[in-house]
This record gives sequence, structure tokens and C-alpha cells, in this order.
Amino acid sequence: MAKSASEISRLNAKSTLSKFDSEIVTTSMVLGTPQREFPIPAPLSEHGNAKIISVVNQKGGVGKTTTTINLGAAFAELGRRVLLVDFDPQHSLSVGLNVSTRDLEGSIYNLMMDESTKIEDFLLKTSVPGMDMIPAHEDLSGAEGGLVTVIAREKILKRVLQTVTDFYDVILIDCQPSLGLLTVNALTASNWVLVPLECEYFALRGVALLDDIIKKVQINTNPDLQLLGILPTMFDRKTVHSREVLERISEAFPNKIFDTTIARTVRFPETTVAGEPITSYASASIGAAAYRRLAREIISNGGVR
Ligand SMILES: Nc1ncnc2c1ncn2[C@@H]1O[C@H](COP(=O)(O)OP(=O)(O)O)[C@@H](O)[C@H]1O
Ligand SMILES: [Mg+2]
Repeated sequence: MAKSASEISRLNAKSTLSKFDSEIVTTSMVLGTPQREFPIPAPLSEHGNAKIISVVNQKGGVGKTTTTINLGAAFAELGRRVLLVDFDPQHSLSVGLNVSTRDLEGSIYNLMMDESTKIEDFLLKTSVPGMDMIPAHEDLSGAEGGLVTVIAREKILKRVLQTVTDFYDVILIDCQPSLGLLTVNALTASNWVLVPLECEYFALRGVALLDDIIKKVQINTNPDLQLLGILPTMFDRKTVHSREVLERISEAFPNKIFDTTIARTVRFPETTVAGEPITSYASASIGAAAYRRLAREIISNGGVR
């Protein structure tokens, strides 16, 4: 039986605000600033003009791929049309979404290197309704060398994505752990940078370098690029240490740290094995609730419509 519109929105509301919301440790809780709420946004009446977000940190294992997949899935649950771009030769995003790179017809590498290819031919549907992806393959590691002699080599990904921005509301680019030419391509194509930062000592060390690259891209290839925010990941509520690191991040980047933090939980490694986002694998879990809250936070702040 068809559901009425009001029933549908009630079901959505149930899936996106859960009892786990109250378990999320927020930056405002840790800093003792006023609590913030991020309401469920209204559905969009039209789509397109996608905001492009690069998920960047030159350190591996900080939660870039996990954030790309789960934030994307959370946006899709809110009715946004989402495209994920696997831009790491290690292709963990493709693996995390159950795409076998062995039987790929083409990947982001072909789109970058061959101007006659069409992005429409390489888009894949994910298990999440409303979320598509472009896979990567190990051959992407050859792109940096292959692009050296190409004209405007920093702008290739921008050209590749240009033709689909009218269809999607948000495009998330999962970057490789380096600040080389591929990451510069991602930043040149983007409106925003999202930086997952592990709540560990020394996590802040690399951020100055990253800040430097962002400034260089702003000056040379993309004056509109801006930092969307720093996302504290692997937060452990039981340790004082996690809280201290969060305080340090917020001192270094006042107003640029997300209120939502992502707790350390074994459910994330499990989802990789399962090949699906936590929002479907463990829909009622603190991890799913956190990425849903992050999606609402970004929409409330105007990062994405
Ligand atoms: N919040 C978290 N809690 C526990 N494990 C996590 C969390 N986020 C990611 N992981 C796990 O840590 C590993 C690295 O995460 P990943 O997202 O692949 O990082 P990156 O893309 O930055 O290299 C993966 O095994 C992933 O499942
Ligand atoms: Mg990764």
C-alpha cells in the first residue's frame, strides 16, 4: 500500500533522529559552550548545483573513507542526491561499497586520462538509494606521473565533474593520504574541504601543512575553496586525553571544528567488511547517529543545501 506524504516524513524522522543522538559527545559539551541542535532539513524541491567537498588529510587511517561513505549515505537519507568519488589508488571507498575493482569497465583514472570518456558511462549505483559512486583502481597511482605534461593538470578532475554538478546536490571526494597532484586536483574541483582529525596527540601536527596547500590552491587554481570544518574522529569518551585533544583542536581552529564528533567504535571496521554504510549495516548505532547529525549540521550551516 502506498504511504501518504506525512507518513513518509514521519518514517524519515524516526530513522534520522534516534536515542543514540544523546550519546554523541559534542564539541560544545566538551568545551562547556551552549548545546546546539540541528533540525531535520526540509526535502529539496529541485536538485543540482552540487556542492563539492574534498575529504582530506595526508595521514592515513584517520577516517577519510569512513566519513565519505557514511556522510554521503546520511545526506542521501535526507533526500539529497549524492555522488562519491573514490580518488585514492588504494580504492578503499570502492571496497567499502562492495565494488570489485577486478571487473570494472573503467574508473576515475580513465576519466582523468582520456578526454573522450564520459562520466555517465562510469557512474555506479550503491546500495543506498540516491547515492552513486565513481570507483578507483590501482592504476590511479600512475596518474600523477601521467599528468605531468598535461596542460592545466591541476584542473582535470574539475573538468571531469563539471558535467554532473547539475544532477547532484553534493559530491564527496575521498582523497588519498598525500598532498600531491591528485589531492590538488580534488581541492581545485571543490567548494569545501572537510578534514577528519583523529583525537590523538600529534594529530594537529600535519594540519599546518594541509593549511598551506589550501592557501596555495586558493591563490593559484581555486580562489573559492574554503575549509568546511575539522571533524574530530576516533573520539573516546572514556579518556581525558580525547577531550584534551578536542580542546587543542578548537583552540587552533576556533569556529572551524564541527560540533559533531565521531566516536571510536568497532562498528566501523565491521561495516567495511560488510561492504555497506553504517547507516544501513547498523542503522541504530551511535556511529550512524553521528554521521546523520553531521549531515544535518552541514546543511544547517549552509555547506550543502
Ligand atoms: N570512528 C571510528 N572508530 C573506529 N574505527 C574507525 C573509525 N573510523 C574509521 N575506523 C576504521 O579505521 C580504519 C581507517 O579508516 P579509514 O576511513 O579507512 O581512514 P582513511 O581513509 O583516512 O585512511 C578503517 O579500518 C576503519 O574501519
Ligand atoms: Mg581512505
